Amino acid sequence: MKFIGRFGALAAAGSAVALLLTGCTGGSGGTGGGGSDSGHFDGVPDSLAERLNSYAVHTSENSKLDAHFFGITGASSLSEAMEKDILKAFKSGGAFHGRRALDPALTDPEERWEAPKFIEQPGQGPTASATGQDGAGSTSQASGGATASSTSGAGKGKEQKVTAENSVVAAGGHFLVSRLSTTVGGQATQRVFVTDLEKNETQPGSALFSDAQKYGADQVGAMTVDDKALPVVDGSAVDKGDLSDLGTQVRQAMGEDLQLPSDDKSYEPDYSCGLLPCVAVTYDDGPGTPQQTKELKGYLKDANIRATFFQIGTNVKQYPKANKELLDMGNEVENHSWNHPQLSRLSGSKLAQQLDRTDKALEAAGVPKSTMLRPPYGATSAAVDKQVDKRIIQWDVDTLDWKTRSTPKTVKTGTSMSQPGSVILMHSIHEPTIKAAPQLYKNLKAKGLYPVTSGYLFKGLPFEAHGEYFCRGYRSAMCSNPEHPMVEKGKAKAKPAPED
Ligand code: NI
Repeated sequence: MKFIGRFGALAAAGSAVALLLTGCTGGSGGTGGGGSDSGHFDGVPDSLAERLNSYAVHTSENSKLDAHFFGITGASSLSEAMEKDILKAFKSGGAFHGRRALDPALTDPEERWEAPKFIEQPGQGPTASATGQDGAGSTSQASGGATASSTSGAGKGKEQKVTAENSVVAAGGHFLVSRLSTTVGGQATQRVFVTDLEKNETQPGSALFSDAQKYGADQVGAMTVDDKALPVVDGSAVDKGDLSDLGTQVRQAMGEDLQLPSDDKSYEPDYSCGLLPCVAVTYDDGPGTPQQTKELKGYLKDANIRATFFQIGTNVKQYPKANKELLDMGNEVENHSWNHPQLSRLSGSKLAQQLDRTDKALEAAGVPKSTMLRPPYGATSAAVDKQVDKRIIQWDVDTLDWKTRSTPKTVKTGTSMSQPGSVILMHSIHEPTIKAAPQLYKNLKAKGLYPVTSGYLFKGLPFEAHGEYFCRGYRSAMCSNPEHPMVEKGKAKAKPAPED
């Protein structure tokens, strides 16, 4: 097993994280002196590695990015802070190519690091690879660099090699101290973050100190933690009196058992589809029979994936229970009209009926009012777009599953046509399509794609009611991105695709 992460086994954690320090024999008394001074730090607990999800962004052709970073399910504040700074470094290295956002690219899953590699040994400090390839020294010689260049508009500058990696400096109780190390063109920057896993709050490392001025951003970025759980800055432990209230709490927590957040949403990547190459898995025309729903739910669960189900109102009425079950699992359950007409051929009042009846049936089945519409046959018009007060989700990968009714063909088309930002169209009422699920999911992951729901794919882009969304990114004029957050309202042509 070369890689470890949400798609891999998280087994090999233990031995690599052996405790290095002696002289800190545990117990709440510690060795630090006074009665209330209970902090001690033996190294990051082994249990943490099992919960780190590993990600990599590695490109060599069009841009030179090499990023390795972890996330923890349930600690979204940490991944949001990391993602912001990783993208900032990418941008200042020219990887946005003058656009407002990154165009996520495929990375071989084998590039993902094994989880223990993200864990620093006590006193280790920033890793060698993160301190610059050009002998940039042990601390940040250019800490202002990323911040300064990131504000320079489009960032059309010359493309430079960018590396980024985060690591765990210390952890205990419900606190985690981590470091993000980036280099842009050989110039290194480190930042430390402190995360309260219970409150899901992440702050800059300077929050550990009562006097933020006393220790500069460079010093905090390179800090380590000693066996008395005191931050070590510039080679010496800081005075206990220099810790803020938070710093004192974090210090005391270091001797405690690690309390990680619940991992019940591990099917979502920790990072957004503005950084990772995602693909939306969508199923139309359901719910199918209870047996079909059960089977598909099992495949989704086994693969730890969630999908978007665009349901037909008449089927919702026939199989109400399936909708709530799918929703409770974490899937999206949305509107595909009442009985599958070409919406572009309907009068305004007939169109309204098609959507309202389905919304009401879904609500009666325990699903909140839908916010997305999949128009049958993809058939829209300027009038439809104008009237529909939902995000209209089209697709760019048509598996033709309804036509071939072939498991191998559905797998093959879905795999080969899917690109970063794609939306895959399938139907949850055909047995061969359901049987295709396990292999298709496996193939998508092996390709380096992250299968997600439609809502997750487009998260971070403006949610435009009346707008049509086909894919995310820059590879096609049909795809949505910050410059083009949706396909122009009312401009999409009604071009009915044959569909059952
Ligand atoms: Ni349909």
